[in-house]
Amino acid sequence: MTKFPKGFLWGGATAANQLEGAFDADGKGLSVADVMPGGKVRMQVLASNDFDWTLDNEKYTYPNHRGIDHYHHYKEDIALFAEMGFKAYRFSIAWSRIFPNGDETEPNEAGLAFYDNLINECVKHGIEPVITISHYEMPLGLVKNYGGWKNRALIDFYENYARVILTRFHDRVKYWMTFNEINSANAFPALSQGLVASNGAGDFTNIAQAWHNQFVASAKAVKIAHALDPEVKVGCMIIYATTYAMDSDPKNQLANLQQNQEFNYYCGDVQALGHYPSFTERFLKKHGTSFEKLEVTDEDLALLAENPVDYIGFSYYMSGVTDVTHEHEAGAGNMIAGVKNPFLEESEWGWQIDPEGLRVGLNELYGRYRKPLFIVENGLGAKDVKEADGSVHDGYRIDYLRRHIAAMKAAVLEDGVDLMGYTPWGCIDLVSASTGEMSKRYGFIYVDLDDAGKGTLARSKKDSFGWYQKVIASRGEDLD
Ligand code: BG6
Repeated sequence: MTKFPKGFLWGGATAANQLEGAFDADGKGLSVADVMPGGKVRMQVLASNDFDWTLDNEKYTYPNHRGIDHYHHYKEDIALFAEMGFKAYRFSIAWSRIFPNGDETEPNEAGLAFYDNLINECVKHGIEPVITISHYEMPLGLVKNYGGWKNRALIDFYENYARVILTRFHDRVKYWMTFNEINSANAFPALSQGLVASNGAGDFTNIAQAWHNQFVASAKAVKIAHALDPEVKVGCMIIYATTYAMDSDPKNQLANLQQNQEFNYYCGDVQALGHYPSFTERFLKKHGTSFEKLEVTDEDLALLAENPVDYIGFSYYMSGVTDVTHEHEAGAGNMIAGVKNPFLEESEWGWQIDPEGLRVGLNELYGRYRKPLFIVENGLGAKDVKEADGSVHDGYRIDYLRRHIAAMKAAVLEDGVDLMGYTPWGCIDLVSASTGEMSKRYGFIYVDLDDAGKGTLARSKKDSFGWYQKVIASRGEDLD
């Protein structure tokens, strides 16, 4: 057997705020992503003490306001995904299209209609929609008026939102995820929790409370989905970064174990196992807080226990190294800044490229949870060069994906891991989340648009397009 199983969900992934554009069309409200400046200054601005979620068109640019205008090009884009042979397409619903300020009781019909059309277009092409309910784009009103996820009031707003979209779309959408990269708040709570210095990110109690509120909200979504149809599958979604100790010094081994527990497993344990992990108190204490300080009710704990997720969705881009005993050079990364690994190459953005680490992660996650896994993001952000005829020779991307798919294949076919599917990130070029740039591209499809917002928006196929088409058609047998 050299092929992936029949029914394996090959596809690609995106997020509304990074590709849709049309940021204020048809009644959409502002989301947190709409006020995050574009360009390399983004993370610096969000981390500064004076960032207060104000839009400043004089000082900054906001590339996601236009995105790649998928809002008006979705038919063309889905047709290209279908041509590649996609079985699944992971996208997110922009919460602020449905509830512009987040706290309304009645939804915005125009927003629902857009996703109705998008879902129908997928179904028409035989593509299974996979929906992230909240992907780094909560309504700005929930941050400005309620202080972000640290406020328990958000549980009800999310529940209402989840109920509306699950009820409307569950007949055509079987796979859902509740929060994108929920554990990213460990390093960067602005995107997923709406917390920056000016509204409490400096106090880890707020981050832990926000997580708790999200866990409860997530369990409520699972409950609603299963009540509508027990066949609907709801997953969690975590950033997974395999982490190695620098050497066999027990100090590094222990520090690495703790890093793994605290970064990779804390959120997944609650969502998948239905209870807080044994190391919770140590983790919170390390950050100057304690479980006692959180508002957690008996009803919350019962709800978590009764409504664990059905599968583990995760992103995997890179691995990290833990070293507490040497001076070292820091590596950059996807929400974690580790130590550079001397055995690995890195991307142009300093992310450590590690296909074997994916096989390690798949085994670790499956061994821990014994629930189906779904790789819902993976890929190489790179600067592509478009030739005059529109072609892009992205052999480096093919090489990255080939090696990761080979690792995945070994985990499935040799290690017995139950893997549902693979949706590489940014299957069509879109705005980067960490830097708000267009020039950090992941797609199989090139979009003619630069960092300054100039370009025709024309779509063209990169070399990786034909390659991935062949991979899917051969069920992963032909990776050449
Ligand atoms: C993940 C996010 O962290 O990584 C995506 O879920 C993001 O939203 C992706 O785009 C790649 O990161 P970046 O910063 O290169 O866009």
